[in-house]
Order: sequence, then C-alpha cells, then structure tokens
Amino acid sequence: MSDSAIRPEDLVLLLGARPRRGVRAWLYRGIAKAVRDGRLPPGLRLPSSRAVAAALGVARGPVSEALELLAAEGYVITRDRSGSRVAPRAESVRAERPEVALRPPPSPGTPDPALFPWASWLRSMRIGSARLRPDDLGYGDPRGLPALRERVAELLRLTRGAVVAPDQVVIISGVAQGLTLLATVLRRRGAGPIGLEDPGSPGARDSLRSLGADVVPVPADGDGLDIDRRVGEPGAVLVTPAHQYPLGVPLSPDRRRRLLDWAAAVDRLVIEDDYDADLRYDGLPIGVLQAMAPDRVALLGSVSKVLAPGMRLGWLVPPPHLYDELVAAKRNADLGTSVFDQAALAEFIGSGEYQRQVRRLRQVYGERRAALVGGLRERFDVSPAGFSAGLHVLVRLPDHDAEQRALAYLAERNVAAHALSDCFFADGDPGLVLGTARIPAPDLIPALPD
Ligand SMILES: Cc1ncc(COP(=O)(O)O)c(C=O)c1O
Repeated sequence: MSDSAIRPEDLVLLLGARPRRGVRAWLYRGIAKAVRDGRLPPGLRLPSSRAVAAALGVARGPVSEALELLAAEGYVITRDRSGSRVAPRAESVRAERPEVALRPPPSPGTPDPALFPWASWLRSMRIGSARLRPDDLGYGDPRGLPALRERVAELLRLTRGAVVAPDQVVIISGVAQGLTLLATVLRRRGAGPIGLEDPGSPGARDSLRSLGADVVPVPADGDGLDIDRRVGEPGAVLVTPAHQYPLGVPLSPDRRRRLLDWAAAVDRLVIEDDYDADLRYDGLPIGVLQAMAPDRVALLGSVSKVLAPGMRLGWLVPPPHLYDELVAAKRNADLGTSVFDQAALAEFIGSGEYQRQVRRLRQVYGERRAALVGGLRERFDVSPAGFSAGLHVLVRLPDHDAEQRALAYLAERNVAAHALSDCFFADGDPGLVLGTARIPAPDLIPALPD
C-alpha cells in the first residue's frame, strides 16, 4: 500500500471554498467525491481530525463526525495507531473500468499525483477561461494563445536562461508531440537518421521508430552524450543535457561545446529535451543548451513533471528557419491545443503558481530522494547516480538476474521502475531506473537484492 500522505492544508485546498455553515456535510461530500474520482488515491494517509480542524479553524467535533461517516461508508479505513487512509478500491468499481488494463506500466518519471496543486489549478482554470474572448473558441492560431506564449517565453528566459521571444514559441501537447512534429519535418527535408542517446529514453526511441524514423545510437556516459562516438552521420541529435535520461548526469561543458561545434560544422539540428530541469535539488538549475546556439537547437519542455503528464501541455522553441514548417505541422496534426487548457496555464504561470509549485516540489522530492539515497548507501554501500535532479535515480546492479528479480519485486508492488538494460540500443548494463516521486525509502530498500 502507498505510504503517501496529504497534509491538512493541502486537503483543505483540494476541497475548495468552505461554506460558513455545514462543515461536516461539506467535508464528507468533498472527501467522498475526491476518493471516487481518484484525487485522493487508495492508500493515501489522511491527516488527523485534530490537524484538519486546526487547518480549517473549526472545532474538532464536526471533522471527526465526517471522518467517521466516511469510514462507515467504506471511503476511508481508520486504524488506531496509523490514523485514517483512503480505502482500497472495491473490486466491483475496478471491474467497471476495463480501460485501466490498457494503461502503460508506471513510468519512473511520473510525479506524485497527491502533490498536484488542485486548488490553484482550478482557480487558474476559472480565471483563465473567463479571459477567453468569443473568437478564441474557433480554430485559433496553431502556435497557441498569445498570452500563454508570452508567459512561457518569460518563464524560459527567467528560469532556464533560454533565448526566446513569444513569437518563437509553439504550444504543443507535451515533449512527445514536439518530437513527432520535428521528426515529420526532418523527414520531409530528407535530413537523415536521428541520433539518440545510448542509453536513452526507450519511450522516445519507440515513438520515433513508430513514425518510421531512422534512429542511430550516440553513446552517453558519465559526462552525457558523446557526439565524437556517434554511429554513422545523424541528421539531427536528441539530447537531455540538464539531466541525462537514464544516467542522471548533466552534459559536461566540454561535451556541450563539442556537440554544438559538430552541429555548426555539418549544419545539423540538436533537439534539446528539457524534461525535468526545473526539479534540481542541489542549487540552481543548469541553463539550456539552446541559449548557446538558438539557431541550431530546438528546445522542448512540458508541464509533465511539475504538474502532471495527463495534462498533455508543453512547448517547442525551434530555430527560426524551422519555425513556419513546424507550425504548419502542428496545424496539420491537430489544429492546435485546447484553448481552455492554455488559458489556465497562462494564468497559472502568470500568477506565480508555477514557480511556487516548483519550490514546493523541490522541497518535498528533495527530502524523499535524500531518504532513499541514504537508505541505499547504508544497506548496499552504493551511491545511486543522478539524484541531484528530476524524478528518477539510477542504481547499477551486478548482473541481469539481479535486474530481473528486482523488477519483478517492484512491479508486484506497483513501484515505477525500468530496466537500465532496456535503455540501450543493444545489450546494455544491468541496473534500475527508479522513480522516486512516490516511494518512501523504507518500502523500497528491501526490494533490492543483495
Ligand atoms: C526523457 C523524457 N523526455 C520527456 C518526457 C515527457 O514527455 P511529455 O512531455 O510528452 O509528457 C519524459 C517523461 O517521462 C521523459 O522521460
């Protein structure tokens, strides 16, 4: 069972505006609804009635009564010593939802849904939607709403050091769509194969292959991608400079220079996947490669790590010479991203909530990762790599048997993990790419074989 907990102030935020009277009914209805729709997931620890009452500034009685009613109806389970938890979902409810079986296994890069800022996102949806004009409801500019492009350009300049104006941004539905659009345009231009980090993201590799794109390996090690060891002559290279996936290292200054020198010498495109760079725990985020060569680098990012992958919202900042073609590809793909989602994100960034969420996540995830890393060091005397940023760490294992045993154990417990060996083009080193967003160290450490 999950060991996540929700803090009293977050529970109160999630429930929205409190009526002046009828706290008991409001709490009961709000929590029951959030359990039904999954915002309060099974196993989540709830704060004590005393803590909720304190956060609300009300007497404890009505809060306890609401929790008792929820327990009586099976929404929560109350145990004396460990407090209340959201109850596991009933079999009948699961049986009605066959689509769950179609979901991919949990990815190590998935954030903790319990940390989603429901209250401020709902507020941004309301305020952002109210700002839309009647004309915005038609098929709009495929680049995205001007207000969002402005906010994203500002955010990228301030927090990632990017060189970008609002007219250089295309709003997309996540890094995955950006890759698809770039692959489509590169293919039409006859650019040749796309070089992928080896090891790298199996998701990116599968997605590009499914489009019929040719992909070739470019080895990566403790200094990140090494363009000098590329296989063949790629027409473009996809790289994760801030936090290499899966090795977790930043691209070293020397390797950055070599990559950009190569791109300039042979006139190639570098695709920068800036997927989790906001979440850096040991100081300031490492700035984007795009800033050093805005005319050679296409920058991709999304809200998937700081907010939620299910939102499917992101941005693409291509070099100027590819901009119009990519906008046309975006229009042909889907005629633009939902204006309601865009308006909400513009408000969420503009009101400072995005940066607040980043600060909160750095704190919470930073503490979880420190506990995990400490536990791994103590038990195995190993230092997992890549723990200073993002949502995953890398644990190397002695052999492929150990890798398979650990994966089977973790899968049974629904812990997000990938095999390191799957991240390679051909046979690769054994290890685990472990998602750290949702797992407390005490559950995880015993999972790993000696
Ligand atoms: C390497 C890498 N890039 C990008 C993403 C995010 O993709 P998207 O923005 O499409 O959700 C992920 C998600 O796990 C990832 O692991």
